[in-house]
Amino acid sequence: MKKAEKMIFLSTGTMHGDEEKYVKEAFDTNWVTTVGKNIDEVERLMAEYIGVKYAVGLGTGTSALHLATRLAGEKLYGQPRPNEGSLKGRRAFASDMTFDASINPIGYEGGEAIFIDTEYDTWNSDPEALKKAIELYPDVKLYVMVHLYGTPGKIEEIRKICDEHGILIIEDACESLGAKYRYKGEWVETGTFGDYSCISFNGNKIITGSAGGMFLTNSKEDADKVRKWSTQSREDAFWYQHEELGYNYRMSNIVAGVIRGQIPYLDQHIERKTAIYRRYEKGLRGLPVKMNPYDKENSVPNFWLSCLIVDEDAMCKQVRDDKKALYIHEKGKSCPTEILENLAKCNMEGRPIWKPMHMQPIYRSNKFVTAKGNGRGQSNAYIDEGKVLDVGMDIFNRGLCLPSDIKMTEEEQDMVIEVIRECFE
Ligand SMILES: Cc1ncc(COP(=O)(O)O)c(C=O)c1O
Repeated sequence: MKKAEKMIFLSTGTMHGDEEKYVKEAFDTNWVTTVGKNIDEVERLMAEYIGVKYAVGLGTGTSALHLATRLAGEKLYGQPRPNEGSLKGRRAFASDMTFDASINPIGYEGGEAIFIDTEYDTWNSDPEALKKAIELYPDVKLYVMVHLYGTPGKIEEIRKICDEHGILIIEDACESLGAKYRYKGEWVETGTFGDYSCISFNGNKIITGSAGGMFLTNSKEDADKVRKWSTQSREDAFWYQHEELGYNYRMSNIVAGVIRGQIPYLDQHIERKTAIYRRYEKGLRGLPVKMNPYDKENSVPNFWLSCLIVDEDAMCKQVRDDKKALYIHEKGKSCPTEILENLAKCNMEGRPIWKPMHMQPIYRSNKFVTAKGNGRGQSNAYIDEGKVLDVGMDIFNRGLCLPSDIKMTEEEQDMVIEVIRECFE
């Protein structure tokens, strides 16, 4: 195995120079605050790119998701008292295989998430599992759905199911900025499909401001409300006057300067990420692995992270507890633990698949629904089914994220591919 001279990263920010210009402009004009031209421009440019009427700049994707969740809660159940969340005592459906920032806001608002299992076609929520969840929990009126790793989920089917049952959708497009899908025959961007949609400019995302997030909507009323809540919910009065709970969630004009400088390079970043995915696809051919899948007819991912999944019969023995993992090497076989360990030895940063929420200690006792129905307590001591019972757990066991940094050279990527090949020897 050949060690890379310098670290090959999973995904880091790539700066182009314009970012500094806009940050300097903020300094020079003394708009070093949460107001200014950079924020205005970033909001205008992103709304235009994505195709929504309003984009509200916030500190993080997490804060965008929180305010989206609060808006949904208030729309469904009314304005809560300041000491209570808007989802107090309520349940909400949520993607299971995601980063916890997607669904923690359900908890911030006093609600309880019911996790929807994943499907193999796009590694996003399974519409069949969603239908089963609606049968089991017909009172639920909110669904938080993610497009994992930049791959759009089964949007049209999910929208239809939710519309039929009066369920509001929060679309977590934090990882999928620039990914497109064909919705009712028209190509549109992710971030336009939720009743409330959110994106992130976190340091590892396809474009970054070091941090940053955005709430996207076509509703002026919702955009105004989010802007108000994000700046401590000040009422129209001469002094600080408050009638509802506020937050300090607004985007900084300095961070916005970095994002403003990145926006013109978004398409270029997507092109590079796509080339990396294609190169892995080619380079790993012949091995018992597959790349993370997508709907080739109806979607164009942004390919934020390239991932692979080891074929079932090519998995060596691997066990994981809550913190550690072990494997036994077998000739011709491998597993994510072995591949990640060898990549790390060679200065290459991979990562396990985001561990599904229903397996997380914090959410282990939450409800979980698969395409077959209730996903909890389904094994039977008297019937040996001999395989995992849910899709999310299976993808987590067999999958991993590959170095996908757009500064990675072709030679470096070839070295990564070589390390993976050697794992199966
Ligand atoms: C799917 C998903 N949702 C939400 C977030 C939260 O975004 P942020 O880090 O900007 O708060 C992230 C990334 O960090 C993410 O990957």
